Amino acid sequence: MARKLFIAGNWKMNTSAAEAAALATDLVGRLGAEAKVDLAVCPPSVYLTTVRDVLKGSAIALGAQNAWYEDNGAYTGELSTAMLADVGCAYVIVGHSERRHILGETDAMINRKVLKVLAGGLKPILCVGELLEQRKADQTDDVVARQVKLGLKGVAPTDMARVTIAYEPVWAIGTGEVATPQQAQAVHAMIRDLLADLFGKTIADATRIQYGGSVKASNAGDLLACKDIDGALVGGASLKAAEFAGIVAAGAKL
Ligand code: PGA
Repeated sequence: MARKLFIAGNWKMNTSAAEAAALATDLVGRLGAEAKVDLAVCPPSVYLTTVRDVLKGSAIALGAQNAWYEDNGAYTGELSTAMLADVGCAYVIVGHSERRHILGETDAMINRKVLKVLAGGLKPILCVGELLEQRKADQTDDVVARQVKLGLKGVAPTDMARVTIAYEPVWAIGTGEVATPQQAQAVHAMIRDLLADLFGKTIADATRIQYGGSVKASNAGDLLACKDIDGALVGGASLKAAEFAGIVAAGAKL
């Protein structure tokens, strides 16, 4: 089944307000009418409205980098899915490895976030991926399968159409060391098999699995050409409009 590629930029804790607006403006100029690939950018939350206003009417959707799993209340510093929907977000990144490993998010928290994002009418991008020592110890499949299973616990099959999974080997994030297309494809295929066990083959075949970790214009084509790689979650290279547009172009011509 043909899956439309989905490429998202994760700006992380980068850009000033002016830089966010300028980057979004540049992206709209280059990609605002892109029809072959689904696109999103995830700016720092304080600039969501700034970027939303620039993206208005373009093909580039808005995403948040995180959300909390309660509706409201005493959760200092957190944002609810209703707030994110209110400022125009369509997507929410959930369980990014930086939140898992620097901020201590557990699979149980991440699962609650996935369910909350779905309940709030938004689309989660569930990030999974092994650490270098886990890959070296041959634990990649076990680690990733557990993260997928626990992250998607209780998700209704009918909601899976709104779920994207991002496979991001932690050793490849921000390091310049990209997984080879073969390494990535093997894990993506494993994830799709697992999705078939969990939700059936039709849903597994329709679910988009992005690759993330040092994706740039020069390596995107080979990665995106793999059978089970359905897009990219891009960090560093998403901060440069020309580079991000190059990644999208590599996907659009496949
Ligand atoms: P990177 O980050 O492209 O800078 O490696 C990817 C990510 O963390 O989503």
